[in-house]
This record gives sequence, C-alpha cells and structure tokens, in this order.
Amino acid sequence: MRLKDCHNFHDFRKLAQRRLPGPIFNYIDGGADDEVTLRKNSSAFDNCDLLPSVLRGVKDVDMSVTVMGQKLDMPVYCSPTALQRLFHHQGERAVAAAAEKYGTMFGVSSLGTVSLEELRQKHKNPQVYQFYFHKDRGLNAAMMQRAKEAGVEVMMLTVDSITGGNRERDLRTGFSIPFRLTLGGMIQFAIKPMWGINYVTHEKFRLPQLDEHVDMGGGASSIGGYFTDMLDPSMTWDDVAQMVRDWDGQFCLKGIMTVEDAKRAAEIGCTGIILSNHGGRQLDGSRTPFDQLDEIVQAVGDKLDVMMDSGIQRGTHVLKALSLGAKAVGIGRGYLYALAAGGQPAVERALGLMQAEIERDMKLMGVTRVDQLSHDNLRFLGESGAAKISTGAAA
Ligand code: FNR
Ligand code: LAC
Repeated sequence: MRLKDCHNFHDFRKLAQRRLPGPIFNYIDGGADDEVTLRKNSSAFDNCDLLPSVLRGVKDVDMSVTVMGQKLDMPVYCSPTALQRLFHHQGERAVAAAAEKYGTMFGVSSLGTVSLEELRQKHKNPQVYQFYFHKDRGLNAAMMQRAKEAGVEVMMLTVDSITGGNRERDLRTGFSIPFRLTLGGMIQFAIKPMWGINYVTHEKFRLPQLDEHVDMGGGASSIGGYFTDMLDPSMTWDDVAQMVRDWDGQFCLKGIMTVEDAKRAAEIGCTGIILSNHGGRQLDGSRTPFDQLDEIVQAVGDKLDVMMDSGIQRGTHVLKALSLGAKAVGIGRGYLYALAAGGQPAVERALGLMQAEIERDMKLMGVTRVDQLSHDNLRFLGESGAAKISTGAAA
C-alpha cells in the first residue's frame, strides 16, 4: 500500500500501522479504559442524516470561515497533538506546512517537538498554542509571555487533562517518554527497523516548549510524570479568568462539554470553546462532542465561537457539525496517521482529500457557503429508529 492508494482516514490509518512500531501506533490510535467514547465519537455522526437540497446553482463553493478572528480557507484545522517527531522526523514542520498550503490553522502542543517560535516565523497561517496549567504559576506566566512574543494568534487551554487518561494500550507496551518498553514493546520496535533507522539518522527528539523551562531529560521526569507532578489539578475558573486577562487576545478552552461550563467560559471573556473529549483519550464513557453541540450552540453561540473535535473522519461529519452551528472543527488522528504514513506530502494529501470531500458534499447538499448550512439540513434518528425533526435547544 502506498500514499496514492490512500483515499480516506482509514487508508492512512492502515499505512501508519504498517510503518510505525506497535507502541507508537497504539499511542496515537488508542483511547482510555474500554475505548467506548473513542468508538462513539465517530458513530455519533450516524445518528443524524443530511437532507440535501437540489437545483441550487452550486458551481462555485466557498468553504472559508472566520473563527476567533482568524480567516480559514477550510472549516477544518489541525488540533494540537504531542510528540509528532516520533511519528515522522518532520513532525510539526510537516503539519504546519500542510496546513499553510490549505490555508488553515494548526496547533502546537506544549508537548510539541518543534519550537513554537520556529513555526510562527516560517508560516503565515494562524497558529494556536496549546497550554496546560502548571502548578508553577511563574512557569505559566513565562510560557504565555513566550507565546505572546512569538506572535501566536490563539491561546488554547486544555481543560480535560488535569490528570492523565488511563491508556491501557500504553501500559501494555510500556510506551512513555522516556521509553520504558516491556519485552513485547521492544519486540514490536525490532520488527520495524526502518522506523528505528529513520529515527536515529534525523534530528534528536526534543520538547522545546518545555525544555527551556523544565528538565525533561529522563529519570523521574516523563510524560506521565509531567501530568501527575507538574500540572495543577486544583485549577479553578478564577485561575483561568486571570489567564484570559493576562493573555488579552483570542483565548479558548479545549474540552468543554456542558452548557454551564460553556456559559462560564463566555463570562470570563473566552472568545472560543472547543467541545472535545480529547479523542476519547481521557474520560471514557463521556458523551460525544457532536451530541452536545446543539444545546451548547443554542446557549452560547452568540457570545463566543463554538468549535468541536473528536471523531471527525469525513467531510460529511464536518457538514453535520457546521449545520449545528460549529464555527470550525478540529482533527487529531485525521492528520497524525497521514504524518506517520508519509510526512508532509501525506498530510497535504489528507487535508486535500478532506477539502475535496467538503466541496463535493456542499455541492450535493445544495449550498455554496458554510453559512447556508443550518438545522434544517439535518434529521436525527429517534430511539425507535424513526426520523424526527431536530427541535433545537434541549428543554
Ligand atoms: C492528542 N490531543 C492533544 N490535545 C491537547 O490539547 N494537547 C496535546 O498534547 C494532545 N496530544 C495528542 C496526541 C495524540 C497522539 C492524539 C491522538 C491526540 C487531542 C487532540 O488535540 C484532539 O482533541 C483529538 O485528537 C481529537 O480527536 P480525533 O480527531 O483524534 O478523533
Ligand atoms: C495525549 C496528551 C498528550 O492525548 O494530550 O496523549
């Protein structure tokens, strides 16, 4: 199987699985506990059907959107993800460049492997900096200052990872940074020698967002240790309100799932929220963002920009989310499998396929602009299986 044989998410996933050592593939692919939420994230989109309109003159489609003050040529952005250098030696460089080609936003994780400054200087497309809240308030202030000076457009605080999720696939393989592989995990690396050769013949693995501030060199410090020792589970809304004031710009919370929290985000001055369950990697059994989208947009859609991620694999998923009022949607695995499968050309191919799907689907839906999509384009399946009309806000 080669890159040109990849026509969708599933194809890139298969190719990534072939190229990556098992422990790394499973880190990307896996979720928390029994992975119930991981599975539901995509199947949630099947509970609702699209209703196409015809004969609308749809020759030219404009799928651009404006979200948190950023104009995006397509309504899909690359959500921040950790450790990209492990998946391909180009890491974040490939993702940022591919996102630039398609005129969309990319996220850089606190656990990113290329510096936010380098990426900001090289590319023109909007950049998000994904932030975790540390116990050390001085460290938080220093990291925000650094992102501000670099010219990062959007600050994104992840609020669903106050402690690490229970990733049992990683426990079995021993995946962690630094590696603490089990025997089974080591064997899985040994049978993928090309990955190893590629890894040692390219730039050294680094965590440049953190290593200026923290010693992530080994020993006691590890990604697991980072979550348990350095992040502050006592963080409250007051702390975030202070961060929003300090940042004084576009600020969003990633991992909001309830109407009440969405309202609080608006009250403290956030300009956006991302409904997310972290791709099913944190609280298993939590609801899907798509299922929560309608009521949250109804409650706060006029006060801030509502986005969502988790489970997006298809152009039709994007259209369903936009129909319920999401301003844009994020993908994680959707570009990570491609990155692992073939670096920048593969991420470009994945984004290109997504763009082509959205364009085709918009034409088939009879719309030429994203703002023409609405509730009227959707019908939800009731428990009995009978179609019923979406009633908007939950009572
Ligand atoms: C993530 N995600 C994530 N989120 C975040 O805020 N900071 C991070 O460092 C990471 N790291 C990360 C690594 C990997 C391997 C994955 C798969 C995901 C979550 C990510 O931003 C996004 O919320 C989900 O990936 C969305 O779900 P899908 O698109 O993967 O289903
Ligand atoms: C993850 C963390 C790093 O999902 O956000 O693996």
